[in-house]
Amino acid sequence: MAFDTIITNGRVVTASDTFSSDIAISAGKIAAIGQNLSRDNAATVIDAEGKYVLPGGIDVHTHLDMPFGGTTSSDDFETGTRAAVFGGTTTLIDFAIQYKGQSLRRALDSWMKKAAGKAVCDYSFHCIITDLGSAQLEEMNELVREGVTSFKLFMAYPNVFMLDDATIFKALRATARNGGLVCMHAENGGAIDVIVQQALAEGKKTPKYHALTRPTTAEAEATARAIALAEMAGSPVYIVHMSCHDALEKVREARDRGLPVYGETCPQYLYLSIENFDVPEFEGAKYVFTPPLREKWHQEKLWTGLQRDHLQVVSTDHCPFCFKEQKELGRDDFTKIPNGGPGIEHRMSLIYSGGVAAGRFSVNRFVELVSTTPAKLFGLYPRKGTIAAGSDADLVIFDPKRKHIISAKTHHMRVDYSMFEGIEVTGMPQAVLSRGQILLQAEKFLGRPGSGQFLRRSLYSEP
Ligand code: URP
Ligand code: ZN
Ligand code: ZN
Repeated sequence: MAFDTIITNGRVVTASDTFSSDIAISAGKIAAIGQNLSRDNAATVIDAEGKYVLPGGIDVHTHLDMPFGGTTSSDDFETGTRAAVFGGTTTLIDFAIQYKGQSLRRALDSWMKKAAGKAVCDYSFHCIITDLGSAQLEEMNELVREGVTSFKLFMAYPNVFMLDDATIFKALRATARNGGLVCMHAENGGAIDVIVQQALAEGKKTPKYHALTRPTTAEAEATARAIALAEMAGSPVYIVHMSCHDALEKVREARDRGLPVYGETCPQYLYLSIENFDVPEFEGAKYVFTPPLREKWHQEKLWTGLQRDHLQVVSTDHCPFCFKEQKELGRDDFTKIPNGGPGIEHRMSLIYSGGVAAGRFSVNRFVELVSTTPAKLFGLYPRKGTIAAGSDADLVIFDPKRKHIISAKTHHMRVDYSMFEGIEVTGMPQAVLSRGQILLQAEKFLGRPGSGQFLRRSLYSEP
């Protein structure tokens, strides 16, 4: 049998197994996995000797081309997906925002236009709901039927995105019935706003006060409330961008009780801390995102959470704003700093490095966290998230030994700083394939804008 591409001699890694094997690709799918597959007539042979072959990374939390805080996130679907590919991510799920008074359909249409012709890797959308009347409740069912099977709700950002408990409860009940999944931004926005107003009145306006006015208790309280609402609704719930031990404990307790509650964290909470604000003047604005950075000891608690399956997913919450001109908007008042940080490019290397190379968990657990569980939870499995005959040939040839120092001077994200500047990682992608097409090889980008496809997803399934 003739194949389009054969990857030879690699160590294939899935969430459950590690084994030496060739992988053959035909028409964008994995056609065969086995020893000594015939190279005859294969148009392309890629030698993966000494390398891992991983399922492509899946980043389920990005904000490309997103209007926020008086500006727009600086990566669009072309630059953002390109940077993702440089880091070994081949699928992302971004967020289509429904603004007040709008239909969910309008939100989706508008984000589909942003991505069309630009995305270099495959993508999908969660729908952010800010206004839930009876029409939009019915639309939730329609969207789920059409393959948009997850929604993001906010318990923070009063007057912008925040929903009250009754509305959140209605949305959770809808997903309990229609099989979708709610992603929750869990912070007590009302209490935080009172603390913020007090800080401003006291003249505390520098970037660090963004962090100091958002206590961990506000995240823990909202996480517990989200879980309670989901339990009453009989629905699963996925808590996004978890930053601290206090909130993580709420997820752990719920999971111990057998509830379908899932937690996601991001590399910034594993590598950075409140100490990053100890920089001259306004530079702390680079670290203004929500939830904020915490005291350093939380980092190890989060790593342990990943190891013990109290947390199930690592995403990036990539939401980049340039330091010059965009973060500048809040020079005199931290509440005006656009919230968000860049990270889409370095998730795989940072988690491999801090997780596997540092001895915290196995390479299989790494694959589970960055690809397989995201695929299962968000209805992409087994098309994505694994290496199996019939799955999309989204593959990363990963060099576990290669070291790299992260820097804005060399990264590919369209943003003028790196949150992880100077951090050395061990483990880098050497080649990246999306549906069998080589998008990256030997640091050379070979993809093209528009080659990414919109993914209709299946219903949430338990990982
Ligand atoms: O600061 C952040 N996280 N910005 C993006 C929006 C969100 O809350 O995820
Ligand atoms: Zn959020
Ligand atoms: Zn986000």
